[in-house]
Amino acid sequence: MNSILNKGKETHTLSLSEIIELLNSDGVELYKAADEVRKKYVGDEVHLRALIEFTNICKNTCMYCGIRSANNNIQRYRLSKTEIIELAKQGIDIGFKTIVLQGGEDSYFNKDLMCEIISEIKSLGDVALTLSIGERSLDDYRAFKLAGADRYLLRIETTDENLYKNMHPGMNFENRKRCLYDLKSLGFETGTGCLIGLPNQTIESIAKDILFFKELDADMIGVGPFIPHPDTPLADNKIGSFSLALKVMAITRLLLPNINIPATTAMETICKDGRKMALECGANVFMPNITDYSSAHKYEIYPNKAGINGTKKNVFSEIEKSLNSINRTIGKDKGFKKAIE
Ligand code: 5AD
Repeated sequence: MNSILNKGKETHTLSLSEIIELLNSDGVELYKAADEVRKKYVGDEVHLRALIEFTNICKNTCMYCGIRSANNNIQRYRLSKTEIIELAKQGIDIGFKTIVLQGGEDSYFNKDLMCEIISEIKSLGDVALTLSIGERSLDDYRAFKLAGADRYLLRIETTDENLYKNMHPGMNFENRKRCLYDLKSLGFETGTGCLIGLPNQTIESIAKDILFFKELDADMIGVGPFIPHPDTPLADNKIGSFSLALKVMAITRLLLPNINIPATTAMETICKDGRKMALECGANVFMPNITDYSSAHKYEIYPNKAGINGTKKNVFSEIEKSLNSINRTIGKDKGFKKAIE
């Protein structure tokens, strides 16, 4: 166990069987190692990313997701270009250095409209822009990059092809991978990640997810437990394990020591102080939701989603207080991936 952790800390490589051993451990030593590596490579700053959930309209029918197109029990919304830009402006005005635009796969936001939104937000100030709007063509991704987008989030969700197929009707695993490699090749800081606790997901397949993160050379990794949503086919399935998600995050920190890893909302949702715990087990990013409450509570990918922070002036001081309580500070710059010194 200790020799595996030392190898992870020093070489940032682990074999499949070593990862499986860590996933089956109680996690205590692993968390300590991940916290050390986090401190050494990315320091004590926590980068904030202001999240705007701008549309919950989605053409896909992912089995776990509350905004799947087959869910008729949800009020759909789509913010206008003006509303999106106004929210971004409020976020920038209160001090956020990154804006994240996240939405369902909504074809209303075509290439040209997205490019207008991207360049207008980028012209508002010295801010990084992250997109999380799903699978698109290489041509679209290229246009988004040229318009000024800096980062892109697209979780692979699972690398188990059979499970991927069962969870994503009508979607294609190869295309998802194609998107990720296209994003990397275009120079986006590329984020991916996986869900923990999908039905029939094995420890071995989760270990392979982690090796995939390394193979892609991901710049950001988001990991969260699966949370059953009542209006989905997986309503009666078990909730994912918090500690398993934490272990996946911690191992990812060992293998990709300098990347950005968020303490995810799903972790906070299923465990009180889950976000703080994540920050002490490898995470260094926090993504407050600044979408207006009236829309944000409709962006229910899973029930009881934690924390809608809004754009009130005191958002920063509240977050700062909470971070200071674990000896961490708010990042002062845009928080791009740090080079390995
Ligand atoms: N539980 C947890 N996470 C979910 N996501 C979608 N639905 C759920 C759920 N029921 C995650 C997916 C997606 C991200 C935006 O939210 O991993 O990539």
